[in-house]
Amino acid sequence: MLDSTAIADALCTSGWWMARNVLEPGLCAVLQAELLHWQATGALKTAGIGRGDAHRQHMATRSDRIAWLDGSSAAQQQYLALMDALRVGLNRELMLGLFEFEAQFTHYPPGAFYRQHRDSFAGAASRVVNIVTYLNEHWPAEAGGELVVYAGEGGEEVQRVLPAAGTVVVFLSERIPHEVLPATRDRYSIAGWFRVNATTGARLDLME
Ligand code: OGA
Ligand code: MN
Repeated sequence: MLDSTAIADALCTSGWWMARNVLEPGLCAVLQAELLHWQATGALKTAGIGRGDAHRQHMATRSDRIAWLDGSSAAQQQYLALMDALRVGLNRELMLGLFEFEAQFTHYPPGAFYRQHRDSFAGAASRVVNIVTYLNEHWPAEAGGELVVYAGEGGEEVQRVLPAAGTVVVFLSERIPHEVLPATRDRYSIAGWFRVNATTGARLDLME
């Protein structure tokens, strides 16, 4: 269950929240099958970084491959409905004015990584809350590929999250630096963002 009250509390106190076995295994399996299909049909593209720079490829920073969810399947619609319920819940709890949700399927081939970054800089100023959902059914610790969450006073590491199916991580986009460590196997996730309306999110836009 994505408990918006518990998530809102955690966002207020530490800026991040994590739980295992939140998304149903059946839904994770169908989403992963879809991701594999998109991969097989060449729909995944090398990820870019930054506004106005979206197609430039920074292989030194990230080496994952992505495709935007478009709600074209029942599984995507089910996932997007869960996210919309959370969006409404977070708005009720925190009055964040979250306006929309966007998400991408993400594939990290073995050895791929995403160095420490925040998602609200350069091209993403309207992103307020990140939510990452993991899809790999079996993920032993020795496979690596952890999400590292940096959150303390001095931005020190506070958690390593194994990307196992059903695990969900939520955090404040502006506040929480994070990193994806290289894995020894293919790693599949959905990276999503709750956004404010860029035309009314003046404060956030000014922080770019
Ligand atoms: C991202 C990201 C984390 C993950 O796509 O911006 O940080 O664990 N993804 O896939
Ligand atoms: Mn990120």
